[in-house]
Amino acid sequence: MERYREIISEFDAFLETLERPQPVTIRVNRLKAKPEQVAERLKQQGFDVKPLDWNEWILQVEGKDSVAKTLEHWLGWFYIQEASAATAVMALDPKPNEIILDMCASPGGKTTQMAELMENKGLVVANDTTPKRLRALLANLSRIGIVNTIVTQWDGRNYPELGLTFDKVLVDVPCSAEGRARENPELRQGANINFIRSISGTQKGLLRRALELVKPDGIVVYSTCTFAPEENEAVVAYAMQKVPSELLPIDLPFPHSLGLTEWQGREFGAEMKRCVRIYPHHLDSGGMFIAKLRRLP
Ligand SMILES: C[S@@+](CC[C@H](N)C(=O)[O-])C[C@H]1O[C@@H](n2cnc3c(N)ncnc32)[C@H](O)[C@@H]1O
Repeated sequence: MERYREIISEFDAFLETLERPQPVTIRVNRLKAKPEQVAERLKQQGFDVKPLDWNEWILQVEGKDSVAKTLEHWLGWFYIQEASAATAVMALDPKPNEIILDMCASPGGKTTQMAELMENKGLVVANDTTPKRLRALLANLSRIGIVNTIVTQWDGRNYPELGLTFDKVLVDVPCSAEGRARENPELRQGANINFIRSISGTQKGLLRRALELVKPDGIVVYSTCTFAPEENEAVVAYAMQKVPSELLPIDLPFPHSLGLTEWQGREFGAEMKRCVRIYPHHLDSGGMFIAKLRRLP
């Protein structure tokens, strides 16, 4: 992670957080339960439960056993989700009756989150390429009780015209996942640079296609769980050159850093500050990069 020393202002706090275990968080499913109800039931089973101060629907849960084994989990009262991962859908701000494409959807953490916020109305098209992960997505949609979502299996870079006009697209791309280093010790030194370079090509294709598919004036949120600028600002800059679009500000109610305007001599432009970088020490969670784009007419 040494390559990020100059861009992460609280670098010591960043490194120190990577060494600590990550608290488990769950997102309460508002289609089935209330936060107090879930908290009460889990406390009865010996868990310590604390709502996050910036989102009452996300609870931090600590216990001797895994919260995944509880009846409430199987009933779909909550989804186990990193607090940092919940932020991309907050930026997307899905509304009931919208038509939304989730281009890289499996296993469905963000698909279910957006369908919950849409009150199960409108349409989510949840897409992924990997059969095993698609099975997990289908299982999660069923467990959470989602009925406004269909599932497709396309390479997002060549996603076909389905005759649908998408109001919004979420592009939560495959990435080098450095932001998950707390749970994957092999990533604590940073991801392999050759992998970073190769996956950024896929990411560029995915974001470009998302911008082509969304309606004029529609919104595309691009997210990764990595710190590498090659997978973040560089991908956004590329796609904006290919499809006329502008970056929108993202209003999030917790500490975070801004997108980079340059990296290793490459200028990305002042507007890249509108992107959000969430580091593990910000939320005592994982890492995340989010860009919110509007396709220009
Ligand atoms: C970061 S994960 C998505 C996590 C998911 N959004 C969630 O919140 O649960 C990235 C996903 O992209 C999928 N993927 C990889 N290449 C893809 C492609 N070319 N088109 C569509 N999906 C792809 C992977 O199978 C993986 O499930």
